[in-house]
Amino acid sequence: MKFILQKLKIWSNFTPLLILIIKSKYMSFTLPDLTYGFNGLEPHIDARTMEIHHDLHHNGYTNNLNKALEGTDAANSSIEDILANISNHSGAVRNNGGGYYNHCMFWEVMSPNGGGEPTGALAEDITAKFGSFEAFKTEFSAAAATRFGSGWAWLIVDATGNLAVTSTANQDNPVMDIAEVKGTPILCVDVWEHAYYLKYQNRRPEYLTNFFNVINWTEVSKRFEAAK
Ligand SMILES: [Fe+2]
Repeated sequence: MKFILQKLKIWSNFTPLLILIIKSKYMSFTLPDLTYGFNGLEPHIDARTMEIHHDLHHNGYTNNLNKALEGTDAANSSIEDILANISNHSGAVRNNGGGYYNHCMFWEVMSPNGGGEPTGALAEDITAKFGSFEAFKTEFSAAAATRFGSGWAWLIVDATGNLAVTSTANQDNPVMDIAEVKGTPILCVDVWEHAYYLKYQNRRPEYLTNFFNVINWTEVSKRFEAAK
């Protein structure tokens, strides 16, 4: 009996630690693995940039988001819910929550087998909205090239179900309630210098031209269908 009581006492001493371990394991955001190698997007995006971008930058946003949410009511919310109510959160949640979400999407809308043009309903909507795929490419690239400083360009489905091109500063995105143009993003490009500087230095337009060679239109179409 004494032995059992001793055992129980030991376990009870560890209970807070166990809760903390379980919480940190199941109630936090995790850095997703890339589904392709760091060199998978070569020569358009170089392996070293991908490694630093994913392992250091995206990992940093993920860890800092978890820290910023620790002990708050939002710790168990989805990232989409947090972003849709970002005006109620701290600057740290805004910057790192945006950084977390944006990069998760960025890795998925690129592929070693990417490039070319979309097909099916997405292709039809792009032509209907922008006039042609080339005209869309020009508008999207211009939004990305002219975003001053750091930020992102987006292709979104807006509340009325229409496609639109927009851009946001820093790690903001169209999901946020503070966004000037809101909608469901289906394609994004990161125009922070950390996304291209090693290979392209200050030549952002050249990076954008090459980005079109790695766009995963299958994934973008999937997101388009889900958002409609
Ligand atoms: Fe980035």
